[in-house]
Amino acid sequence: MVGTFQSLSLDPPLVTFCVDKSSSTWPTLRCLGRFTANILSTEQLPVCRALSRKGEEKFRGIEYEESPLGTPRIPGAVAWVDCEVLSEVVAGDHYVIVGSIEELVAGQGEALLFRGGKFGEFTLWPTPASDGKA
Ligand SMILES: Cc1cc2nc3c(=O)[nH]c(=O)nc-3n(C[C@H](O)[C@H](O)[C@H](O)COP(=O)(O)O)c2cc1C
Repeated sequence: MVGTFQSLSLDPPLVTFCVDKSSSTWPTLRCLGRFTANILSTEQLPVCRALSRKGEEKFRGIEYEESPLGTPRIPGAVAWVDCEVLSEVVAGDHYVIVGSIEELVAGQGEALLFRGGKFGEFTLWPTPASDGKA
């Protein structure tokens, strides 16, 4: 479970995220050379909490479907980003991972956000009446 997943490049399409060096899951993904980033929805807080625990036990009971890459897509996510691992850079106590997007599939719902130690969702501001008229 990472909270730093972001777009890095459009051409070619790349994403990046950071993994704590103490992660017990990352060595397996590194060996596999691919992963799916599941962008969890506001309905999936329990999944998020479960996957934030340490160790392989946390995957027990989490439903998934296989992507064309053979990586797990969790049903109900807002989007699934299937990637090949392109590079890994050591940065302090984390690794910075760059992934190359193989397939991007949009789901439904609102993305689950984490800020200031709390979970929530993005709130759109009302569009001012003057927008587009200036
Ligand atoms: C909201 C949230 C965001 C997190 N973001 C990251 C992150 O960007 N990178 C990271 O290594 N761990 C992050 N963590 C902590 C990991 O989820 C947790 O340490 C990890 O699941 C450990 O599992 P593992 O050792 O089995 O890999 C985050 C946890 C939460 C709750």
